[in-house]
Amino acid sequence: MNLLKKLCETPGISGYEERIQKVIKEELEKITDEVKIDKLGNLIGIKKAKKLSSKPAPKKVMIAAHMDEIGFMISFVDKDGFLRFAPVGGFDPRTLIAQRVVVHGAKDIGGVIGSKPIHILSEEERKKPPKIKDLFIDVGLKKDEVSKIVKTGDFVTLDRDFKELNDKIITAKAFDDRVGVYVMIETLKRIKDCYVDIYAVATVQEEVGLRGAIVSSFSVEPDVGIALDVTIASDIPGTKEEEMVTTLGEGTAINLMDSHTISNKKLVNFLRKIAEENKIKYQTDILLAGGTDAGAIQRSKSGVPACTLSIPTRYVHSVVEMCHKEDIENSIKLMSKFLENAHKGEF
Ligand code: CO
Ligand code: ZN
Repeated sequence: MNLLKKLCETPGISGYEERIQKVIKEELEKITDEVKIDKLGNLIGIKKAKKLSSKPAPKKVMIAAHMDEIGFMISFVDKDGFLRFAPVGGFDPRTLIAQRVVVHGAKDIGGVIGSKPIHILSEEERKKPPKIKDLFIDVGLKKDEVSKIVKTGDFVTLDRDFKELNDKIITAKAFDDRVGVYVMIETLKRIKDCYVDIYAVATVQEEVGLRGAIVSSFSVEPDVGIALDVTIASDIPGTKEEEMVTTLGEGTAINLMDSHTISNKKLVNFLRKIAEENKIKYQTDILLAGGTDAGAIQRSKSGVPACTLSIPTRYVHSVVEMCHKEDIENSIKLMSKFLENAHKGEF
């Protein structure tokens, strides 16, 4: 879990992935034969197949997990030193009030997203849901001091530690999608004999429209692709049973459809068969809003069979995202069994 903690706590919003890229690159270098970085910043780790002389050229399997997290870009420093910001990725403003942040300026400085205390809110103001454009960051410094450190265009991440709530449950910011990156790395550590070429891609800019996966799938030209990402676990009070998408602790989730991708049927059936043969706990999910890098892989070149393997996560896109360790473990198991058997698959 130390690696997952490090992945979640390292900053890197869409387009500003340098620091998280460095951490992942070091890990990929230990477990792949070659690591490339493309012009957008995607990391591509290549692990060559174990060759069988009688067999045709190995298939290329692309695994994609996005390394970017949602955050903000500083858009304005006002005369009193308060900062305004533009969202990078889809935040729910209700989850932002009263959060700590880190502003990545000339150096990292802490701040808070401030708001008027309830004592001085009017009746009218209490009823209104907050809007991001009305929020501000307070770093507790005067304009002239702030201006030495912060300029427009600097990026901001939310400040939240990784925490194990008990022996099964963990909570952090940026499980979306550092937990996918973690599953990808742990899978590569675990696989034994593998007869396909694996392209493990830590993609950039997923949260702003799958941009990293669009270009990396064009350069990799995979025969088949799987995105590793989080999915909604809405097994919480106030959600109807039929609307929960997935349930925390009920296994890795094979996605059937999201708003970008209808999963390749043969690939889904192959994953189900492998899960059943190896007694790996899984569930299926259908996500009506949102998509993953699978959408970009599927539509690259002349089309690629693709789907998403998801880690059920509560409170996605908040700083208290929550995962179950067994779901993570089952995701690693299914991914590694899939890769060990992928040469037999007909997609
Ligand atoms: Co996301
Ligand atoms: Zn994601």
